[in-house]
Amino acid sequence: MVQKIALFNNKGGVGKTTITFNLGWMLASKGKRVILVDADTTCNLTEIVLGADTEEEQSELESFYLLPANIKTALAPAFESQPRAIEAVDCMPVEGQERLFLLPGHVGLAEYEAILGMAQELNRSVQSLRNLPGAITDLLNKTASKFQADYILIDMGPSLSSINQNLLMTSDFFMVPIVANFFSRMGIGSLSTVLPKWAAWSKKASIIPAFREAVYPYPDIRPRFLGATVQNQNYHFRKSKVAAVKLEREVTKIENQVSEQLFPVLEKSEMALPRQIYQENGVDDSFCLAKIPDFKNLIALSYEYSTPVYNLTQQQLQQAGRSLEDVQDKQAEFRQTFEELADKIIGLTSSVYAVSA
Ligand SMILES: Nc1ncnc2c1ncn2[C@@H]1O[C@H](COP(=O)(O)OP(=O)(O)OP(=O)(O)O)[C@@H](O)[C@H]1O
Ligand SMILES: [Mg+2]
Repeated sequence: MVQKIALFNNKGGVGKTTITFNLGWMLASKGKRVILVDADTTCNLTEIVLGADTEEEQSELESFYLLPANIKTALAPAFESQPRAIEAVDCMPVEGQERLFLLPGHVGLAEYEAILGMAQELNRSVQSLRNLPGAITDLLNKTASKFQADYILIDMGPSLSSINQNLLMTSDFFMVPIVANFFSRMGIGSLSTVLPKWAAWSKKASIIPAFREAVYPYPDIRPRFLGATVQNQNYHFRKSKVAAVKLEREVTKIENQVSEQLFPVLEKSEMALPRQIYQENGVDDSFCLAKIPDFKNLIALSYEYSTPVYNLTQQQLQQAGRSLEDVQDKQAEFRQTFEELADKIIGLTSSVYAVSA
């Protein structure tokens, strides 16, 4: 049975896309079948996986988008009232990792934003829109069945849009990537306010007959918080000893805010796993799943070669412009970070409390 995991934070630039790609690949390396879903209308994840730099890559993309294999076209039967049912997407195999697939994004997904927002207004249930709130999860379930996926990782854009509300509330689990700085703390405050509202909305939506009995029924699911990832190197600024100390302080502040502000509200809204499950899987009271290191110039190579930072070959690493030994040491550290993260995700999601569609 597939487990859908949303990577969400309405604060932008916190590593959602990078973690989706590196974590998805690692889960696949551990034998899981994984679909990466690009639900961000910037299509960054799709660009990383498929490449869009060379003329050749661009013309391949053009031909690819003539096919219906992307998130927007696949949802068109529901959102454009076409007389056909939603069908599983023919996901793209990700080169270099046989168990990893991509459900490509589409810039035009944003065109469905307003109508989904209207459909999700519970107090004026418009009959003609009743099939929309359950449509995205129906598409993901059908696609997961077709690919016999164990996991779907959903890369979301940085907003509190109705599409994000829908994606998050119909997932089984979610993770919150964070960067250690002031604005991320502001973001956690915002999540602490919004997520309980979304949970209350979802609970109501799941019992409204029009949604339950729709062609694509709205599911009765509570997404469970897996934890946060904290980017513990502030890659926007140059590193100095003073900056490193400040950063460590920021990390602590972030962790405190997650455990003292965010987690308690999630618990109240039935969006958390029992505390004991985190402990059993090596996640302490800060609910930090991983501290993501600064990949420095490996990030550019990773994107260029559509390969996770920890899988770049020796030849590719030589282009990093630093001593190979040094870079390989770093790479080993990145591999360990993602191996441990993937193990925690596998442990947490296989807990008995896992809720799936
Ligand atoms: N661990 C890292 N080390 C260095 N640079 C990183 C790291 N993670 C991400 N970056 C860089 O930071 C930027 C933001 O990362 P990413 O796109 O993954 O964040 P995001 O949360 O998906 O952003 P958005 O909200 O815009 O979708 C990118 O330019 C990426 O290359
Ligand atoms: Mg992104």
